[in-house]
Amino acid sequence: MSSLLRIVRFTRALAPLYTAIIVCSVLTAVAGLAVPFLIGHATDTVAGAVNGQTATGTAVRTVLLIAGAVLLAELAVTVISNVGGWFGDVMSNRMRTILSVRYYDKLLHLPQRWFDGEITGTIVARLNRSITEITNFTKMMSNSFASMLITTVAVLAISAWYAWPLTVLLLIVFPVYVWLTSLTSVKWQRLEGRKNEQIDIASGRFAEVVGQIRVVKSFVRERGELADFSHRFRSTDATTREQSTHWHRMDVIRRAFLNLIFFGIYAIIFVRTVQGAFSLGEMVLLVQLMAMAKAPVESMSWVIDSAQRAIAGSKDYFRVMETPVDPRTAAMMAARPADARDAGHADGTAGELPASAGEGAAVAAPTAGTAVVPGAAPAVAAVPGAPVIAFREVSFAYEDGEDVLHGIDFQVDRGEKIALVGESGGGKSTIVNLLLGLYEPRRGAVEVAGHPSAEVPLDQLRARIGVVFQDASLFSGTIRENIAYGRPEASEEEVVAAARRANADAFILRFPDGYQQVIGERGLKLSGGQRQRIAVARAILKDAPVLVLDEATSALDTKAEIQVQKGLDQLMAGRTSLIIAHRLSTIAEVDRIITLRDGNIDEIGSPAELATSGGIYAQLLALQSSGDSRKLAKFDITG
Ligand SMILES: Nc1ncnc2c1ncn2[C@@H]1O[C@H](COP(=O)(O)OP(=O)(O)OP(=O)(O)O)[C@@H](O)[C@H]1O
Ligand SMILES: [Mg+2]
Repeated sequence: MSSLLRIVRFTRALAPLYTAIIVCSVLTAVAGLAVPFLIGHATDTVAGAVNGQTATGTAVRTVLLIAGAVLLAELAVTVISNVGGWFGDVMSNRMRTILSVRYYDKLLHLPQRWFDGEITGTIVARLNRSITEITNFTKMMSNSFASMLITTVAVLAISAWYAWPLTVLLLIVFPVYVWLTSLTSVKWQRLEGRKNEQIDIASGRFAEVVGQIRVVKSFVRERGELADFSHRFRSTDATTREQSTHWHRMDVIRRAFLNLIFFGIYAIIFVRTVQGAFSLGEMVLLVQLMAMAKAPVESMSWVIDSAQRAIAGSKDYFRVMETPVDPRTAAMMAARPADARDAGHADGTAGELPASAGEGAAVAAPTAGTAVVPGAAPAVAAVPGAPVIAFREVSFAYEDGEDVLHGIDFQVDRGEKIALVGESGGGKSTIVNLLLGLYEPRRGAVEVAGHPSAEVPLDQLRARIGVVFQDASLFSGTIRENIAYGRPEASEEEVVAAARRANADAFILRFPDGYQQVIGERGLKLSGGQRQRIAVARAILKDAPVLVLDEATSALDTKAEIQVQKGLDQLMAGRTSLIIAHRLSTIAEVDRIITLRDGNIDEIGSPAELATSGGIYAQLLALQSSGDSRKLAKFDITG
């Protein structure tokens, strides 16, 4: 229940709608309650006429007036409940918007580490379920149950006026019913959680399979994947049976108890009417009122069922919402005023995010000449003479356990070109991840422009670095959108110029839609080399002072690679660059090479020095220039 109250607090921007719904519910209840009184009155009039106490003509006029009044009351109920329903629809939709946007906002604030441990489809399935169940419940609550509850309270008061034993019986019904239901709920929720877990895993796998359907097909894994999927869903059958048996067993107990209580209620009303305590009209009134009180009790189990789902949903929801955010991302997002994230807060709701604006910004006064994102925290000035990038005795592990990097120590001066060479899995991409601030080192520090990287606001840090990742990581949408991802406001000329430098212009223009060509999910409609060139163009357009190329041209043939390389060489002139390449020809021109072995730096030196030192580089060079690929395949550089 507290988690539902939390949802209400969380969506306090909807307070006016909540108020409107409550007002409509009260009015609906009042208009509805008028009907039994009117019918009771009509019954007495009819009884009077039948007994000859009232003249027929007068009685007819009275009952017609009463019928007219019933009509008015019922019309009022019809209209007001529909107005309330309208508010309910709008409210639940706004609630869905707020909850979804906040969830997305939250996800975008979470550290990279969190995503490493999650499966996309599972995150999406969880979001959909929890939000749907919360909004469905609030919609149902506002569209019918609120007025029912108000009616019940009124019925209790009215019945107390006529016959207190009725009130006592009704007062017993509610708590006992709720108690019995909550007994059901503990077990029910546990089983529901178990089911959801299976469904989330299945949905996560489903999304992965759809995303990588080519692999599934080529390994003929369709049947296997389908079997796993259906196994997960079928495993929920047994849970559902257990859950439903429990629920219905408890419902029989609850309802039988309710039937007993109503037996008592009707017995009291009928006997006391026979004894003359109530007129016929009063009897009719009371019978109707009791029926009105019974409706919410009967639908209570249904409401509680839906409330339970909503509670389970909101717990799931808040579990993600309570995940500690990455403080640096939070500081950065808070410092950037006009972002899309405001969509969720446009209704005046303050985000429940640590609004530590400028937390990491207090490094230095703004100085001209540093490339920063407008609207962000004060620019961090470069310390004169300091290396652009420095790793100081950095050790790092992705998970608890063995370090992936051990005491990595090197620096890159302004305008220098550095290559990282080493075996696969040696930690090259990890160095890029640390440089981008995606993870924090376990020991030691990464420095940029003379400042510990941890103290530079993330947007400033990342604005300095143009990066081409090892996998091209494109988005669905057009080629233009992908190239301009970092600078959506870039002009057509700039986009084309970047594409030309990346040697992508020619193949882009061969597409029927050119730059407007849609490239499918993650750029699936492009070849590997084409994807890489789009990723290179995207980094070129960013025009950052530091360029990081992680196997940026590995998928290209030699000719295309030379062309891209030409563009990159022009780009790298005067820029600080960090290049990772397995093909050594692409790094022949760098200033220094750093070789890595098992997460340790092996050697640092110019290509000429390392070519003769007999280390990893020299060995690789000998193999690659001899062109003996078979020897290369057997070569074990760790040996
Ligand atoms: N997100 C992650 N979570 C846990 N471990 C990781 C993660 N990313 C990489 N690793 C591990 O860290 C080690 C270094 O990986 P890294 O990607 O830095 O290697 P690399 O030198 O770039 O290799 P390659 O040349 O194949 O790209 C590997 O052993 C890998 O298993
Ligand atoms: Mg790598």
